[in-house]
Amino acid sequence: MVDTKTALEIRLQSAFDAVEPGADPVLRPSDHADFQANGALALAKRLGRHPRELAEQIVGAASLDDLCEKIEVSGPGFINLTLLGSFVAAQLSTLAADSRLGVGAARTENVVVDYSGPNVAKEMHVGHLRTTVIGDALARMYRFAGHTVIARNHIGDWGTPFGMLIEHLLDLGEEQAIATFSMGDLNTFYKEARVKFDDDDAFKARSRSRVVALQGGDSETLRLWRVLVDESISYFGEVYAKIDVTLVPGDVVGESHYNEMLEGVINDLATAGLLVESEGAQCVFPPGFQNREGEPLPLIVRKRDDGFGYAATDLAALRERVSVLHGDELLYVVGAPQAQHLEMVFAVARLAGWLPDGVRCEQVIFGNVLGPDHKMLKSRSGETVKLVDLLDEAIERAYVILEERGSQLDGEARLHLATQVALAAIKYADLSSERQHDYVFDLERMVAFEGDTGPYLQYAHARVSSIFRRLGEPWQARDVHFELAEGASRALALGLLGLPPALSSSLSSLQPHRLCTYLFDLAQRFTSFYDACPVLSAEGALREERLALCDLTARTLRLGLDLLGIDAPDQM
Ligand code: ARG
Repeated sequence: MVDTKTALEIRLQSAFDAVEPGADPVLRPSDHADFQANGALALAKRLGRHPRELAEQIVGAASLDDLCEKIEVSGPGFINLTLLGSFVAAQLSTLAADSRLGVGAARTENVVVDYSGPNVAKEMHVGHLRTTVIGDALARMYRFAGHTVIARNHIGDWGTPFGMLIEHLLDLGEEQAIATFSMGDLNTFYKEARVKFDDDDAFKARSRSRVVALQGGDSETLRLWRVLVDESISYFGEVYAKIDVTLVPGDVVGESHYNEMLEGVINDLATAGLLVESEGAQCVFPPGFQNREGEPLPLIVRKRDDGFGYAATDLAALRERVSVLHGDELLYVVGAPQAQHLEMVFAVARLAGWLPDGVRCEQVIFGNVLGPDHKMLKSRSGETVKLVDLLDEAIERAYVILEERGSQLDGEARLHLATQVALAAIKYADLSSERQHDYVFDLERMVAFEGDTGPYLQYAHARVSSIFRRLGEPWQARDVHFELAEGASRALALGLLGLPPALSSSLSSLQPHRLCTYLFDLAQRFTSFYDACPVLSAEGALREERLALCDLTARTLRLGLDLLGIDAPDQM
C-alpha cells in the first residue's frame, strides 16, 4: 500500500506522543508546503502552553529526515512539511507499477449494505434515487477495498395492500396487468386499485378476504402475489440497468423472506422479558426513546390485530444479517424519516443480545432532493417524479449539450455518450455533497462541463486520453525516472498519491463526497499541469515523465469515477 499521508501521520504521531500523548495531528494539503499539521494548537490550549514553542518542541522530537526536506513551524503554531523530492518520486514509481494505485486490499470484513428498497407494484420515484446511488457507491468502494459486500435490497413485498393489488390484477386479467407492469406504468396500476378500494365496498370486501387468504398461505393467492412480485422485480431490474447500478435480482430479499422468522422473534423477546403488552399490541420499550409528551416510546412488534409490522421484519432481518450472514458491518442506506425507527430497532436488537458490540451497525442517513423552489422535488402536475423520467430528461439535456459543443459523434454513439454524461451528472450531484444535507436538483448546473460536476471529471479524463490518442502509438511506462522539477508536476504527483487516504476516509466516514472532492482537486491539478507543462512537444526523459503523469491521472480518474458508479468515456 502506498499512503504517503499516513506514513507522515504515523511519524508525526510519535513526535506528538513523545511530547504529550493523546493529541491527534491532522494533515491537510497546504499552499505553503506539501502538508500542514495543525494538532499543536489544540494541544497547547489543553496544556496551557505557548503554541509555537510547543510546535517547535514537536518538530525537535520528530524523525522525518528520510521523508521531508523541510519542516517548519508557521503562523500561530502550524507545522509545515515539505517532502523530499526523491521520496515523492519513489512513491510515485511504486504507484505507477501498481494496478490498484496504492490502495491496499488487506481487511476483509463482511459488509451488509441495505439499499434501494423500492416497494412492489409501486413506481420507483426520486425518493429512491439517493438510497440507490449512495448505497451503490459504498458497495463499490467496499468491494474495491477488499471487503465482501452483501447487498440487501429490502423491498416492500408484503402487507395489507396486497389484497387490493391481487384483486385488481384479477379484474384486469393477468395478461393485461403484466402488460401494464412491463410498460413501467406501476403508478396507474396502484392508483386504480386504491380508487376501487376506497369507492367500491364489494371490492373492499374481496380485498380483505384476499389478505386473509394470502396470510393463510392459499396457493392460488400466493401464485398471484408472486406474479406481482416477479413483474415488479423485473421492472426494478430494468431501472437498475438503466442507471448502471450493481444490484442484481439475487440481492432482493424482501420483507416476505422474514415471515417464517417472526414468531421466533416475538418468542425470544418474550423469553428475554422484553415484551410488554400495551393497548393490545406487543411492544418493547427501549430505554431512552420518548414521545413529545415525554412518555416512553414503544417499538410495536406485533399489532393489535395480531399482524406483524415493519419493525418485526427489520428485527428478523438484523438477526439474520448477524447470525447467518456473519456481517461485521451492517449499513442501512435509508432516508432521515426512518431514523427513529432504525435507532429503536438497533436498540431492541442490542437489548435482546442479537447485535454484539463488535458489529458496526449504522444508518447511512441522507437528506432530501429539492426542486428549484427548495421544496421537495415534484413534477409539474405536483406528483412525485418517476426515477426514469428524471433520467430521460437528463439524457435529453446532455444530448443537446454534446451537440452544442460540436461533438463529432452521432446517432447511437452520441446517445450512448449522452447517457453516460447524464448518469455522471445525476450521480455526482447526489454524491458530491455531505449526504446529510438536502440538495437542489438543478439539471442545468449538474450537466455542465464546468465546475464541480460529473461531466467535468469525465471531460478531464477524456482530455488526458486524447493525449495518448494523438501519440499515435501504444504507450507503455518503461522505468520512468521521476524528477518532478516543475511546481505543477510535483503538485500533480502529490495529488496522485492522495487516492488511498481519500478512499479510506470516505469509507470510514461513509461519505462518498470525500472521494468526489479528491477527484475534483486532482482534475484541477491536472489542468494546471497541462497548462504549464506541454507533453507531446517535450522530448526524451521529460516527455516520458509527463506521459507517465498523464497515464496515472487517467487511471486514477477512471478508477475513482468507477467507484462512484460513473463511466469514464475516452472521447467526449
Ligand atoms: N421499502 C422501504 C421504504 O420504501 C425501505 C426499506 C429500507 N430498509 C429497511 N431494512 N427497512 O421505505
